[in-house]
Amino acid sequence: MFSVEDREEIAATIQQSLTTGALTLGPATKRFEDAYAARHQAPHAIAVASGTAALEIILRAVGVEGREVVVPANTFFATAAAVLHAGGRPVFADVDEHTMALSPESLRAALTKDTAAVVHVHIGGLIASSIVEIAAICADAGVPLIEDAAHAHGSTLDGRYAGSFGVAAAFSFYPTKVITSGEGGMIVTADDRIAEEARIYRDQGKAGFLGNVHVREGYAWRMSEVHAAIGEVHLRRLDEFLAHRARIADRYDAALRSLPVTVLPTPANAVNNFYKYIALLPPGVDRADLKKTLREQHEIGLSGEVYELPLHAQPVFEAYTRGPLPVSEDVCARHICLPLHSDMTDAEADLVVDALAAVLADVVA
Ligand SMILES: Cc1ncc(COP(=O)(O)O)c(C=O)c1O
Repeated sequence: MFSVEDREEIAATIQQSLTTGALTLGPATKRFEDAYAARHQAPHAIAVASGTAALEIILRAVGVEGREVVVPANTFFATAAAVLHAGGRPVFADVDEHTMALSPESLRAALTKDTAAVVHVHIGGLIASSIVEIAAICADAGVPLIEDAAHAHGSTLDGRYAGSFGVAAAFSFYPTKVITSGEGGMIVTADDRIAEEARIYRDQGKAGFLGNVHVREGYAWRMSEVHAAIGEVHLRRLDEFLAHRARIADRYDAALRSLPVTVLPTPANAVNNFYKYIALLPPGVDRADLKKTLREQHEIGLSGEVYELPLHAQPVFEAYTRGPLPVSEDVCARHICLPLHSDMTDAEADLVVDALAAVLADVVA
């Protein structure tokens, strides 16, 4: 995951931090932010402690306290948890079966006079074409659109990066992501006010790094120099990782055409980073059984789902559940994610496909 040269460079930067004593919000963080902003064609990038912190900070900067925030049911816990932590109430909306992302129809139905914001999640690293319609619906309603881009490093739609469709985007550098800083997150925005608020919120709500005047209810959401040193080096590999992942995805696409599964399509105008390679099983196939057989008989471990159980069905969000969301329930139960990593070989991909073909032949009549 990290080459010898990369590890040496990270170690050298950490040595320097230890020598100078600049251990948080220092020169490595600034370099990581500048490089991230440039790579994503954004005026501002603000490094924080996690993707969850990035989301909560954006929500706080937008102001959702005591009001509703529409989020897709098919997302990670943190998307809705950040809404609660920012003082808002999550309203779960359904997704589109072709993208597994928030559906425009469901968003329209979920909007009320009390909606303070909408969060759109770029599931699996694909920026769905419907984001344009979602942005238009939000603009008509006068509601800010926030992008949960935890999965979408380097992904584009019509050449546009996450962060350019809404008021701001939140990225995650959790270790499973396409690039990592160990732990960490990044806020990307073109909005000068949100960028300024984010810098204040991430450092205990202080008006300035060196002062002691607190103007917001911020938190310890800083990125340490150690994490920035890792992220800065991994970011430089992003193009290489994207090219490699796209090649493996093409190989899967070609092989899966003859299998009884439906691959989530990537339109020609999108660059998908393939954080996840997603396919839907035919109705009736027991995913848990299929995964168990793949593991026990073929030593193939599928990667984690996005997501196994929709948020409106999660016990912790019971108080916010308003009724069934059939598409989310269906796609969450029926999809699989094939293993895909940035140093995967063609031979490993072929083993996955052969094993999947063998198991499906047994379970699909
Ligand atoms: C969709 C989504 N949102 C938010 C997060 C939170 O990111 P982090 O784990 O860096 O806090 C994650 C990831 O882990 C995620 O997948």
